Amino acid sequence: MNPDRRTVSHDGPVLRASGLAKHFRMGGLGRSRKVLKAVDGVSLEIGRGETLGLVGESGSGKTTVGRTLIRLYPPTAGTVEFEGRDITRSSGARLRQDVRRRMSMVFQNPSTSLNPYMRLGEALTEPLVVHRIGDAAQRRSRVAEMLELVGLDTSMADRYPQELSGGQRQRIGIARALITDPSLIIADEPTASLDVSVQAQIVNLLGDLQKELGLAYLFITHDLALVRQISHRVAVMYLGRLMETAPADALFTEPLHPYSAVLASMHQDREHRIVPRGEIPSPMSPPSGCVFRTRCPIAREQCAEQVPQLREAAPGRSVACHFPGELKLDTAAASVRPEPAELTFTDVPPTTAPPRPVPAGSVPHTGEKE
Ligand SMILES: Nc1ncnc2c1ncn2[C@@H]1O[C@H](COP(=O)(O)OP(=O)(O)OP(=O)(O)O)[C@@H](O)[C@H]1O
Ligand code: SF4
Ligand SMILES: [Mg+2]
Repeated sequence: MNPDRRTVSHDGPVLRASGLAKHFRMGGLGRSRKVLKAVDGVSLEIGRGETLGLVGESGSGKTTVGRTLIRLYPPTAGTVEFEGRDITRSSGARLRQDVRRRMSMVFQNPSTSLNPYMRLGEALTEPLVVHRIGDAAQRRSRVAEMLELVGLDTSMADRYPQELSGGQRQRIGIARALITDPSLIIADEPTASLDVSVQAQIVNLLGDLQKELGLAYLFITHDLALVRQISHRVAVMYLGRLMETAPADALFTEPLHPYSAVLASMHQDREHRIVPRGEIPSPMSPPSGCVFRTRCPIAREQCAEQVPQLREAAPGRSVACHFPGELKLDTAAASVRPEPAELTFTDVPPTTAPPRPVPAGSVPHTGEKE
């Protein structure tokens, strides 16, 4: 799924979020109740036909961003514009019409969203019924069309989820997401639970669908090699905030934010990697000023006092740091003495990159199509 720059149109973004926040009130009574700022002040745009990769350590707020954008969670603050409409407070029929029909989610584990007692044909028809699309014959034909589009035989409509392999189930998850003709798919770790060879097939399928249907993706993943390969741009999250957004290659070759430099250095030899200090702080009590300051190799006094705002550094590129670009990839290893702390970014690729997907179009869907 190498991003095809020709699929990106610049006629205004399909989605724009400004100052998006999602806070959860945690246990306790009255004033003792704590607030967990899972997402705080996130601003991002996704162009038509564009893949924006969203990366960050576990608990950094990636899933919460996705769920808030699609309005599964009401935002605590900020605005979301989708296909030119403000959907921040949409509800009822407007929410169904403006958001749920044109923006879909693909989950890590499709099994959890499939009813084991429902045939796949019924599961695929469900969104059409909810959105009152077509009559019975048109729905049957649309289900068959979707099954073929994702590389499955139309006879799959009569099967139950537990009769399918993991890869086949994810193809059903993608078909279900596509059936209402969306313009944006939020894919939350869609390949994380699959074998490597099946991952490659799903990644290639998503790439083919993007080219064919002009889809935009918010692709949430831990896998830095994958995100670099598939994304037009990448957004980096840490403790609920965006650290940097940049074209994928630029982020990994010339990162401006120290945390992006940490991630980019994972592609280098072990001795050239930048290892941040200590552990990720609790999201219940994030550090003052810059949330990355307790782990940042170049933090200084100002970083504890002032929150760095996300500012445009170049067209299509923003960074939230008081000293952007100061921690350089090539010289970083010499200037920073890494502590032997373990990265909590668990799926960071080792020195050897995982197998790359076979180029799109050359993967026969063996084991998938029956
Ligand atoms: N419904 C909820 N209620 C309370 N806290 C939540 C809820 N959902 C998420 N959180 C908290 O918000 C923070 C962000 O969680 P989120 O699941 O968005 O992170 P993530 O980046 O997707 O992590 P992972 O990579 O592990 O999937 C975490 O501290 C999490 O515990
Ligand atoms: S603002 Fe300061 S602590 Fe935060 S990333 Fe930049 S240099 Fe590091
Ligand atoms: Mg998540």
